[in-house]
Parts: sequence; C-alpha cells; structure tokens
Amino acid sequence: MSSFPTQAGGVPVLVLKEGSNRSRGAEAQHGNINAAKIVAESVRSSLGPKGMDKMLVDNFGDTTITSDGRTILDEMDIQHPAAKMLVEVAKTQDNEAGDGTTSVVIIAGELLSRAEELIDKNIHPTIIIDGYRAAAEKALETLEKIAIPVDLKSKDYLKKAATTSMGSKIVAEHKDYLADLAVKAMLAVAEKHDGIYKADVDDVKVEKKTGESLTSTTLINGIVLDKEIVQSGMPKRVENAKIALIDSSLEIEKPELDAKINIESPNQIEAFLKQEETMIKDMTDKILASGANVVVCQKGIDDMAQHFLARKGIIAIRRAKKSDMEKLAKATGGEIVSSLDDISPADLGYAALVEERKIGDDKMTFIEGCKNPKAVTILIRAGTQRMAAEAERSIHDALCVIRDLLQEPKIVAGGGAPELEMASVLRKYAETMPGREQLAVRVFAEALESIAVTLAENAGVDPVDVISELRNRHEKGETWAGIEVLEGKIQDMSKVNIFEPLSVKKQIIKSANEAASMILKIDDVIASAKMKGPPPGARGGMGGMGGMGGMGGMGGYPGAGEY
Ligand SMILES: Nc1ncnc2c1ncn2[C@@H]1O[C@H](COP(=O)(O)OP(=O)(O)OP(=O)(O)O)[C@@H](O)[C@H]1O
Ligand SMILES: [Mg+2]
Repeated sequence: MSSFPTQAGGVPVLVLKEGSNRSRGAEAQHGNINAAKIVAESVRSSLGPKGMDKMLVDNFGDTTITSDGRTILDEMDIQHPAAKMLVEVAKTQDNEAGDGTTSVVIIAGELLSRAEELIDKNIHPTIIIDGYRAAAEKALETLEKIAIPVDLKSKDYLKKAATTSMGSKIVAEHKDYLADLAVKAMLAVAEKHDGIYKADVDDVKVEKKTGESLTSTTLINGIVLDKEIVQSGMPKRVENAKIALIDSSLEIEKPELDAKINIESPNQIEAFLKQEETMIKDMTDKILASGANVVVCQKGIDDMAQHFLARKGIIAIRRAKKSDMEKLAKATGGEIVSSLDDISPADLGYAALVEERKIGDDKMTFIEGCKNPKAVTILIRAGTQRMAAEAERSIHDALCVIRDLLQEPKIVAGGGAPELEMASVLRKYAETMPGREQLAVRVFAEALESIAVTLAENAGVDPVDVISELRNRHEKGETWAGIEVLEGKIQDMSKVNIFEPLSVKKQIIKSANEAASMILKIDDVIASAKMKGPPPGARGGMGGMGGMGGMGGMGGYPGAGEY
C-alpha cells in the first residue's frame, strides 16, 4: 500500500491509493466489534447438547450439516477482517485443544460486546484490555484450583469426557458406543514415558464409508486403505505380508515435450515396444528381488507392470495418499522408497495380513497385525455421507479430548459450572481493584456466564432465572452447580458425569481474551481497494485477487498422488 503520513503546513496528510477505505477511532472499533458480534451470534444457537445444527451450502452446492463451531465458521467464507480474527480463534482452539470452538467464539464475542458498552461510557480500550488481562489470569488460576485430578488407571474419566464432547453433536444418540471406540483407539496409539502420556490424534486413522449405520463403526487393529487391489488377477489376501512402499511411479515416464520418433520398418516398432516391456520388467524384477509380496505405490502402476506382478502372486495398490504412505511406514516399520534401484529387503514393512474386503459397495484394503501394534483405524459407517462426515468431526473432537486428558489428567464439570465459579471469584476480585479496571473485570465475569446463559436459551429454559440461581449457589460454595440441559435443571454437574478436560477450558479463556484484546487495540482500519481480476473461478488471471483465487484453487487441487 502506498500510504504514508507527511506534514503539509502542519496538517497531517495521509496519502492512500485511490479507492482505499479508512476508518478510525470509535468508528473503526464499532465496525470491528459489530462484525465480531455477528460471527459470535451465528454460532450461539449450536452450543450444547440442545443446540441446533447448521446446514451450510458452498459455492459448488455441496452441503455440510454440523454443529461444530470451527466447521460452521470455516464454511461461512467470512470477509470482514475483524470477523476473520474470530474464525482464526476457533481454528487455534481446534488445533490446540480440539474442542470448545463454539464456546471460545461466544466468549470472545461477549467480551467485545461488553467492551463496546464500556467504550461508550468513555473508558479507554487500553484500560479494558488491562482489566481483561488481569481477569483472564485470575480465571485461569481459579480453573487450576477447582480442577479435579483424575487417575488414568481407570479409563472412566476418559470415557466420560469423550461422551460429553459427543453429547453435543448430531451423533449424540450413539455417544457411548463411539466414545468407547475413541478411548480404545487413543490408548492404543498413546505412548507412556515415566508415567507421562504422549499421544497424537493423527496416529489414529479415520476412514469413512457410507452404508449400514453408526453402530457398525469399528476399530481395526491396523491400517485401512480406501483403495482396491489394482488388478483382478492378483490375490485378494496375503499372509505374512512383506510390503514395499514406493512413492515413484511404476510407469515409463512420458516425455514432457512432444517427441517424434521416425520409424521406418515394422522391426523397429517391435524393438521399440520390446524396449518398453524390458524397462517395465526391470522395475518389477527389482521389486521381486527385494522379496516383497505386497506393493503400495503412491503413483500409478502401468498395466504391464500390474500383469508381471499378478503373475508372481503379488498384491499391488496404486495412488495411495501421501498421508497413508506415512502412516503405513510407521505401522509396518517399512521405508518409503523413491528409487527402485535402492530397494532392499530392509526397506520392506511387515503385516500379518493384507486383505481386500468389500465394505458397502466399495472395496477397501485392510492391513492388519502390523509390526508396530500402535496402528489403528476407526472405520466409520453411516447411513449418509453427511452423517459420516459429521461423525468424523465428532470423533475428532472426542480423540482430542482424550489426548488432552492423557497429557494433563485434570477435569472440570460442564454445564456452565466452571464459568460461573470463575465469574463468582472474579466479582470478589474486582472489589480489590482500583477504579475503572474493576468494571472490565466485572464484565469479563458476565462474559463467562454467557456460556450458561446460552446453554439455557438453547434448551428453552429461562436464562435469567438460571443465572440468578446459579450465582446464588456459587456464592454458597457449590462449585459445580450448572445447568443440565437434557433435563433442564440446575444440578451438581460433577454428579451427572458431564466432564471436560481442564486444558480445553484453559485454552478457551486464553484464546478468547487474546482475540478480544487484539480487536480492541485496533483504532485504525485502512483497506486498500479491491483489485479487479477475472471472475471468481477463472484460473490464472493477471495477478490481483482473481489471480490469487486461481492459485488458491490450484493449491487445493489434489496434487501428486493425493486422490
Ligand atoms: N448434558 C449437558 N448439560 C449441560 N451442559 C452440557 C451438557 N453436555 C455438554 N454440555 C456443555 O456444552 C458445552 C459444549 O457444547 P459444544 O460441544 O456444542 O460446544 P464447544 O465444545 O464449545 O464447541 P465445539 O464442540 O463445536 O468445538 C460445554 O460447556 C459443556 O459443558
Ligand atoms: Mg464440544
């Protein structure tokens, strides 16, 4: 942007490019806060087990049905820069904790909306930001204090937390069954060193296939590939599999430029074809020499190569995803080989069984009894594609929650109880603070209470009654008093098994506060004029936004091997 402040006769001048847009001070703040509020408003109704779901339709007419905060915002294609920051915060929450994405956006929205009221009362944003920071620190301290340490020897709490996270999703009807699978899967891949668990959600492979129902979802000890064996002449089953993992193509490379070959006699054609056959034979011979009886290739496999492999009773799979290749390498103990010249028996992975099975209308390949037993796949079955996709998202949340608990085995109860407890502590804390910061701490407390308010609203219970009773109970020392929405009653949430990991709640406070403060600090928005480019969807425009869009599209194209 070509904007720079100069002094012209003592009058500050800002030179901006033609068409640029600038808003400052209160105008900029109100604009940003409003945009963020609208985003928060849009996810509010989906909080909690009684929350509603959203149907989102993208440019191509594909529909997603979900109640997952991050997914809703991701699909909404938000343009406003401040609103985008809330989308970012949902992403951060998802990456760091995996659950709580709706809550973080609601709280950030409330923090901003209440800050706006204070700004209107002439309280400077920096004072609000300082107050919020102090409040967030106190809130986190309170969470640590009330959190209940759990013993991981009993898997009870892992299961309870996973069930809670799925209770607010479309798959809630089957939450017990799915939570059980998620706990087993995560424990299978977790590693324990000196009593401390390390677990990575990505180590659990999740595949989905439409057909049957959610209760047919299974946990497989091994890797499942959504691929069929490449040629019908190959065996469907190999025991004691020695697996070659190859990320180059088993084809003769086509020249990049059009090449012309002058052939003058029939003999030459024959020689030419013979040469091609020899090259392919040479490739498959190298694989055979390594002792492999299963080949998983990230790229294509030539028909003739398939034929040679089939003749030797070897199973081959082509165009495996890069991420699957990596999972296979880890699971089978094999090395991914790029050049066939280098392939050796030491590079091969091992699995007790490789078998193609028919799942629904499709065929999938199961690689079971891997060398490394820490390889598991959850195979989701669901009546429709959309249900399968939502089940995948819900299982992802559950896996994350289990990981969070394994890494920090402390829980809090849900239903707004911890938020109300923090709010109660913050109100007392506010009294010890000087002047205006006190107001900021008080509104921070109210923003936290918005979780219970929203849960009540979504359950059709009067939020005013709920909040006043909850405040009373927390005053009296009932730490876990919250609103149980399935029955619509105020209860001790720790007695009804609604538990969440402490780390999810901590991350919500940190991220919501950070996002709100960042937006509050902005008092000047300078937006350059949008460049005119080719219409959306056109590829390879002359730079500018259109060109970028084109590149984005290209980036999203399933590249080498990723389809
Ligand atoms: N039975 C229940 N009664 C009351 N509150 C519940 C119950 N089950 C879950 N909750 C609460 O619902 C909230 C979680 O709702 P939800 O899962 O929809 O949103 P999120 O976790 O913030 O975001 P997302 O799951 O979309 O990433 C938590 O505050 C949790 O304590
Ligand atoms: Mg959740």
